[in-house]
Amino acid sequence: MNTPARRVVGGLEGVVVGQTRLSRVDGQAGRLTLAGFAVETLAPAVSFESALFLLWHDRLPTPSEHDRVRAELAEARRLPAEVLQVVRAAAKRGAPAMNALRLGVAALGLTAPSDVRLVGAMAAMLATYVRHPNEVVEVPPEVDHATALLWMLHGRRPTDTEARALTTYLVTVCDHGMNASTFAARVVASTGSDDAAAIEAALGALAGPLHGGAPGPALEALLALRDRAPTTLEAATVAWVEEQVAQGERIMGFGHRVYRVRDPRADVLAAAAKALLADSSLLADAQVHERAVLATLSRLKPDRPIATNVEYYTALLLHGLGIASDLFTAVFAVGRVAGWTAHIAEQRATGRLIRPRVEYIGPFDRSVAAATR
Ligand code: CMC
Repeated sequence: MNTPARRVVGGLEGVVVGQTRLSRVDGQAGRLTLAGFAVETLAPAVSFESALFLLWHDRLPTPSEHDRVRAELAEARRLPAEVLQVVRAAAKRGAPAMNALRLGVAALGLTAPSDVRLVGAMAAMLATYVRHPNEVVEVPPEVDHATALLWMLHGRRPTDTEARALTTYLVTVCDHGMNASTFAARVVASTGSDDAAAIEAALGALAGPLHGGAPGPALEALLALRDRAPTTLEAATVAWVEEQVAQGERIMGFGHRVYRVRDPRADVLAAAAKALLADSSLLADAQVHERAVLATLSRLKPDRPIATNVEYYTALLLHGLGIASDLFTAVFAVGRVAGWTAHIAEQRATGRLIRPRVEYIGPFDRSVAAATR
């Protein structure tokens, strides 16, 4: 029986695969709504704990609910011995941070972790990776998640400005429609596999440079071009973009599958980065570099509107917080795991296996005898 011909949609671009109450990405208008709140109003105003509660319960928490989430996250940051062991082993071997997180989540999966456990542990695993072979710095349980992460990473209590900047970042990236890592998590969850397996899949997807791996290279490009004296940064950027595009390379931190205008998260993070980088010339240089990249891309790719995405100002904000560029994607995971857990729960509620079709374009009726003759 012949199957009716179906249109192949490469990269599932524009395909609607389900429904969600968690977030809406409006790519034409450049708007992101998180459970009803515009990202630019929510992210600078609430804690990561509140955003997490919002994604899980579709409303902001009362003060006592907020404190309970904060206490549960503090408890969840205490890692079991087998998790500490694999994360330290990965760090010792020089594995990338994202691989260490994946191994850590797999080890955590031995104990059927709750959602809050998965979210809290992500930050502690990152700190364990960074501080190995030493012990992770103990932080008082009453501090919020962003403060705890910075404290564990740097071994000192962060300033309020630093803690607020990281909180704004974590809330900004906590969820973003049907992005590749969220889809990966939902596919695994749809098979009835466990939550840790779904989060592992999501981490694998996030690690790629086209998704969560862009901010490190984006920062490195800016810093390298800044040092190219005596050429001005603007001229150096134009020449570099031309060279990259001629070689078929992408400029990291620019372009998006859904946004055809500026990613609204870029502005939220630019404002947060400003508070951190006020005393340095980096922000002004970043704006010169950004304008030169955009102008050159629009000249070289006139048919494709390419705008700044979240990763560009992520790079500046995390750099301003003293976080090394090879950790940027792992910090993204600390925030996005909130959305993954909420999507996994939503997916389970549908009870529907995600199982699309593929068009076969190979031959038929090959003969084994002829092929092995
Ligand atoms: N630099 C240079 N050219 C680009 C870029 C870029 N950053 N983005 C798109 N293009 C060009 C691309 O080369 C293609 O040109 P042509 O038609 O001449 O071959 C055209 O634009 C269309 O590209 P596409 O591959 O159809 O676009 P896409 O929807 O697959 O791209 C993207 C989305 C994010 C993969 C891409 O913009 C990209 O590679 N950006 C750089 C990596 C990056 O910053 N990723 C983080 C995305 S934001 C985080 C998140 O939400 O996941």
